[in-house]
Amino acid sequence: MKLIGPFKQIVTLSNLPLRGKLSDEQLEIIIDGGILINNNTIEKVGAFEELIAENQFADLEKIEGEYIALPAFTDSHTHICFGGNRANDFAMRNAGKTYLEIAESGGGIWSSVQHTREASEEELLKTLVERINFLISLGITTIEIKSGYGLDVENELKMLRMIKRAQEQTKAMLVPTCLSAHLKPRDFEGDNQEYLNYIITKILPKVKEESLAKRVDIFIEKSAFQPEESKAFLLKTKELGFEITVHADQFTPGSSRIAVEVGARSADHLEATIDEDIEFIAQSDTVATALPGASLGLGEKFTPARKLLDAGAILAIASDWNPGSAPMGNLITQASILATYQKLTTAEVLAGITFRSAYALGLEDRGRLEHGLKADFVVFKTNNFQNILYNQGSLNAEKVYINGEKWEI
Ligand code: NIG
Ligand code: FE
Repeated sequence: MKLIGPFKQIVTLSNLPLRGKLSDEQLEIIIDGGILINNNTIEKVGAFEELIAENQFADLEKIEGEYIALPAFTDSHTHICFGGNRANDFAMRNAGKTYLEIAESGGGIWSSVQHTREASEEELLKTLVERINFLISLGITTIEIKSGYGLDVENELKMLRMIKRAQEQTKAMLVPTCLSAHLKPRDFEGDNQEYLNYIITKILPKVKEESLAKRVDIFIEKSAFQPEESKAFLLKTKELGFEITVHADQFTPGSSRIAVEVGARSADHLEATIDEDIEFIAQSDTVATALPGASLGLGEKFTPARKLLDAGAILAIASDWNPGSAPMGNLITQASILATYQKLTTAEVLAGITFRSAYALGLEDRGRLEHGLKADFVVFKTNNFQNILYNQGSLNAEKVYINGEKWEI
């Protein structure tokens, strides 16, 4: 047993509901608290002095100074395995160029595909681990990572294998997702339908064989895959035993309905979701994931997070970190900004980047500080948890604990 504390505040996030709006009064804040750890899990969270008295034989890790602790964060949507850089896309977009003009001058998703295909396994792995370490330094210990810049058997497997190798080099938990249905690659001879069949018959069997991912994603959008073909594809992947997540309603509404109809674990983006569909999502168990990093990267509107919460949805917030639409990668900055534009309470934001985003990945063993859950938590040097969002990402995490072990930032 190990006892860590005292913390000026421990924000446990215990007893908060999985769905719907939250007020800050619902937050449980333990003043001068301690965290008692048994191996990888939390034994008890409570008043430090009481925990000391009850646990004379625990190893003591004394915290000197003003620190607070919260559950570590989960980033449930990233594309951080990629080669190259799209700074030129960003500059062109800001200079007023259209999506088509950027694609024609060699930018867009296809350019990341080319760079990712060209990258050696070692390069891909090295930059991936660097990005994982950056996310851990923000207090994120569970990270979803998508393929989707390979778009053929060889390169999709290369990406997923590098994610698997990265898992051997990090204590953070990585959750891989196969996004071969990101875009039909330009060099594929055949139409969308044939490419989706190719994923089903050529890529997914190998993904299964090598246990590279249990989740499948698709980008449903005018410029990518169309609603009907996507629905048929998702139903087939479900039959194959994959969990489903969808890039939905980013620019065009409608696809979030498909995500709900096929029983997707989450529908992500939703910037263009119409009111009727907000209700439909909110009545389902499909998590609505806001990706403010994509709104900030593209200069587009935010996901209607307020309306989703008011309607009773399970709202997660993730970074979408990718080389094109969301190059920033700082989930804390992005979530803080989403809060100011969408009027989200601190409790709603914290829930959205902890137990609700973990739920989007099917993980219910983390994201709150309470008995029996994974001992992943983040420590900030401050005496007030409100300072985290108030500083909009510039208050850095001081320490991160993964499975009860301190990770040096
Ligand atoms: O989630 N929308 C589609 N996919 C990514 C963008 C990928 C890229 O631009 O490279 C997204 O925003
Ligand atoms: Fe994405």
